[in-house]
Amino acid sequence: MKLLHIDSSILGSDSISRQLSQAVVEQWINAYPNVEVIYRDLNEQPPRHLSAEILQAGILQPSQLNSLQRKEAALSKQFIEEFLSANVLVLGAPMYNFSIPSQLKAWVDRVLVRGLTFKYTEQGPVGLAGNKSVIIASSRGNIYAESSANYTQDHQETYLKTILNFVGITDITVIRAEGLNINSAVREQALLSAQFHINQLTKNAA
Ligand SMILES: Cc1cc2nc3c(=O)[nH]c(=O)nc-3n(C[C@H](O)[C@H](O)[C@H](O)COP(=O)(O)O)c2cc1C
Repeated sequence: MKLLHIDSSILGSDSISRQLSQAVVEQWINAYPNVEVIYRDLNEQPPRHLSAEILQAGILQPSQLNSLQRKEAALSKQFIEEFLSANVLVLGAPMYNFSIPSQLKAWVDRVLVRGLTFKYTEQGPVGLAGNKSVIIASSRGNIYAESSANYTQDHQETYLKTILNFVGITDITVIRAEGLNINSAVREQALLSAQFHINQLTKNAA
């Protein structure tokens, strides 16, 4: 079993999404000791934003590539291989300005590639990366849960679900700590609730 662990918070050791994603991975390793973990820190090593030059690297012949395109094509290939080969993806994804960190968006732009992770057909788009489970470790300062008045402002979890569904992934679990910046009582309760749900994740492990 392969587990791809991705973090995207800019807040280093103060990050809550990193704390949650790490706890998820530890839970997984305890339940499945043979799991192979691949780790990507998109803040430590941020992918370049997608550009026309990088996009063209995916369609030109290797001999036509300049040195930047060669380097970036190799990175895109590695991201896609890691993503496609993972059985489990653990995604540390905080809410920044109602959406995801731009570092994570830069990764998404490398991984959603027509012909590799999805295709268009006359019957509509078809995802090519379906057979995996995804656990999103979501952190946010305010409250945007489905039942809250702010729900329509959530372009973080809803966006991630949209792109994951688009590539064929339907097995998505969100571990959420929200209301973190409201006050210490709400924050403490949010962290306890997230940890409770992490503990439930592998309860059916053989
Ligand atoms: C740049 C930035 C933008 C943020 N934007 C929002 C926001 O739009 N809505 C919100 O509820 N919280 C927002 N927050 C608060 C974070 O979601 C919250 O601090 C969360 O714990 C961040 O996750 P992290 O600790 O893993 O980085 C923002 C924080 C930062 C640093």
